[in-house]
Amino acid sequence: MSPIMEQALETTLTVNGTPVTRRIPARQHLIDFLREELGLTGSHVGCEHGVCGTCTVRVDGKIVRGCLMLAVQADGRRVDTIEGLSDSGELAELQEAFHRRNALQCGFCTPGMLIAAQELIANEPGASRERIREHLSGNYCRCTGYQAIVDAIEDVLKK
Ligand code: FES
Ligand code: FES
Repeated sequence: MSPIMEQALETTLTVNGTPVTRRIPARQHLIDFLREELGLTGSHVGCEHGVCGTCTVRVDGKIVRGCLMLAVQADGRRVDTIEGLSDSGELAELQEAFHRRNALQCGFCTPGMLIAAQELIANEPGASRERIREHLSGNYCRCTGYQAIVDAIEDVLKK
């Protein structure tokens, strides 16, 4: 292992509202830290190259790819994962719509899809189906064909 891989930096971040301080390997990605160090396995890991969107989490209120950000870059920042957003009830309406519309099958993409969709709902309440598809273009689903996912998001937007 190279010296830079062994280097660890003291890092303090807030995860789902709880302050966390750890010595974190300088090259560890945020998604790996969340899953392996904190046991927050609700966010998944697919491509590890910023393509599939299944590792989507929020940092300071904005969605990011957890596989593209180093955990030490979250120092002093607020990270929200699917666990925290689900427990807070923020995603409840969307989760219910996904369930009603059968917008998930294996569920691998679903946590990232929900977080990405919620960002659109919060920022663009008048979003069209085309805009929903565009917004989710970085979140891949291999099961549903996307139609039911767009239906579910549209249901919430129309309320
Ligand atoms: S695992 Fe991060 S975008 Fe695919
Ligand atoms: S539900 Fe299986 S990948 Fe989307």
